[in-house]
Amino acid sequence: MATTLTPVLSAFWDDRKSWTLETYERNGGYAALRKALAMDPADLVTLVKDSGLRGRGGAGFPTGLKWSFLPKPDGGPRYLVVNADESEPGTCKDVPLMMATPQFLIEGVIITSYAIGCHKAFIYVRGEVVHVYRRLLAAVEEARAKGYLGDNILGTGYDLDIVVHAGAGAYICGEETALLDSLEGRRGQPRLKPPFPAVAGLYARPTVVNNVESIASVPSIVSNGADWFKGMGTERSTGYGFFSLSGHVTRPGQYEAPLGITLRELLDMAGGVRGGHELKFWTPGGSSTPLFTTEHLDTPLDFESVGAAGSMLGTRALQIFDETTCVVRAVLRWTEFYKHESCGKCTPCREGTYWLVQVLKRLEEGNGSEADLDKLLDICDNILGRSFCALGDGATSPITSSIKYFRDEYVAHLTNGGCPFDPVRSTLFEGAAV
Ligand SMILES: Cc1cc2nc3c(=O)[nH]c(=O)nc-3n(C[C@H](O)[C@H](O)[C@H](O)COP(=O)(O)O)c2cc1C
Ligand code: SF4
Repeated sequence: MATTLTPVLSAFWDDRKSWTLETYERNGGYAALRKALAMDPADLVTLVKDSGLRGRGGAGFPTGLKWSFLPKPDGGPRYLVVNADESEPGTCKDVPLMMATPQFLIEGVIITSYAIGCHKAFIYVRGEVVHVYRRLLAAVEEARAKGYLGDNILGTGYDLDIVVHAGAGAYICGEETALLDSLEGRRGQPRLKPPFPAVAGLYARPTVVNNVESIASVPSIVSNGADWFKGMGTERSTGYGFFSLSGHVTRPGQYEAPLGITLRELLDMAGGVRGGHELKFWTPGGSSTPLFTTEHLDTPLDFESVGAAGSMLGTRALQIFDETTCVVRAVLRWTEFYKHESCGKCTPCREGTYWLVQVLKRLEEGNGSEADLDKLLDICDNILGRSFCALGDGATSPITSSIKYFRDEYVAHLTNGGCPFDPVRSTLFEGAAV
C-alpha cells in the first residue's frame, strides 16, 4: 500500500513566496535548463519518450512521441502552445501549480521549446483566473530578467520568447484545436483533424500542444533521468501526478503521488470521507469520466486499470460524493454545464445536450416516466461517437454510468414524486443535505 506521496512539483509549496524565481532556484530550479541546453535537442525528445511521460491533460498521449511527430525543420516557425485553460468540473491541479510554483512551467516551456526547435511559445490561460494570468506574466518577466528567456539564452545562442495569452473563458477552448482557433483570434471551435496540430497547428505551422502539468514535469525528467521517472507509477503509466481530491473528503487538496495509487490509499491520507458519512460515488478524472462507486476503491489509478474498470483516468480529478448526495441532481448539474458549454458546431452535441437536460430535469422533479431512462440512454447513444469532438462524448459519461449504478435512485424520484433526498418531500433517505 502506498503510504507516501511523491512531491516533486509541490515539493516546496510551503516555502515562503514559493512562486518567486529566487525560491525556485534555491530549490534547484533551472539546473535542468542548463543541462538541457548542453544536450542535442533530439536527445531531449528521446529522453522524454524513454521516461514514458503521458499527457496530463486528460487523454494520456505519450508526450515525447507527440514531439517527435513534428516534421523536419523547413526554416519556418514552429510553436509550443501550453494548454492552461483548465475548466473541466472537478479539475483543479494546473491553477494551484501555476499559482504556487509557476517557474516549473516556465522552465519546462524553455526546455520543450529548445527540444522541438521553437522560438515563440504560448501559454493559453483561462481569462477568468486573473490571479494566475498575473502570476504567469510576472514569472515570465522574472525569467527574462535573469537571462532564461529572450535572445541568446545563457549564452548558448538559443532565442525564445513566451507569450501569456488570456482566453475569454470557454470550456471548449481547452480542446486543443479550438484553443488554436481562439489564440488566432477566431471563435473557439474545434477543427477537423487531420491535419493534426503537429503538421498544421497555430497559424498553420507545426505545433505541439501540451497540458501545464505535462510541461512542468519535463525539468524533473531532465534533472533525474528517464529511469528515475519510470521508477514511479506502473509499467505503462509511469511517473507521478497530481490527484485532486475534492467534495466530501476530510482534507481535500492536491496529493502528488505515483500513478497507480488507489482511492482507498488516497482517502487514508486525506482523512477519509467527511466524518460520519460514507462514500457513495466518485469521478476518477473529472465530470466527463464515467462514475465509480465503492466497488472501485481499490482500482489502481493508472490509464490502463481505470480504462479496464470502465472509466478514464482523465485529469485525476477525484470528486468525492457521500450518501447524502442525490446522484440525479449531481448529473443534472453536470449536464447543464455541458449544454451551456457546447459550442454548437455539431448537431448531436448541440441538440443532444439540450434534450438531455430537459429529460433529466423532469426526472429530477419526479415528473418523468421510467421510459425516460431509455430515452436518456438513446440520446447518449446518438451523441457518443457521433460528435465532432470529445465534449459531446464526455457529456454522456455521467448519465450512462449513473443509470448503470443507480437506476433505482432514478426510479425512486418517480415513485416519490420528486427528489427522495429533499427533506421537505420525503424522509426516504434520512440525513440528506443536498
Ligand atoms: C472539451 C475539452 C476540453 C479540454 N480542456 C483541456 C484543458 O483545459 N487543459 C488541457 O490540458 N487539456 C484539455 N483538453 C485536452 C486537449 O484537447 C489536449 O488533449 C491536451 O491539451 C493535450 O495535452 P497533453 O498531451 O499534455 O495532455 C480538453 C479536451 C476537450 C475535448
Ligand atoms: S461535440 Fe459539442 S463542443 Fe464539440 S464540436 Fe460538437 S457541438 Fe462543439
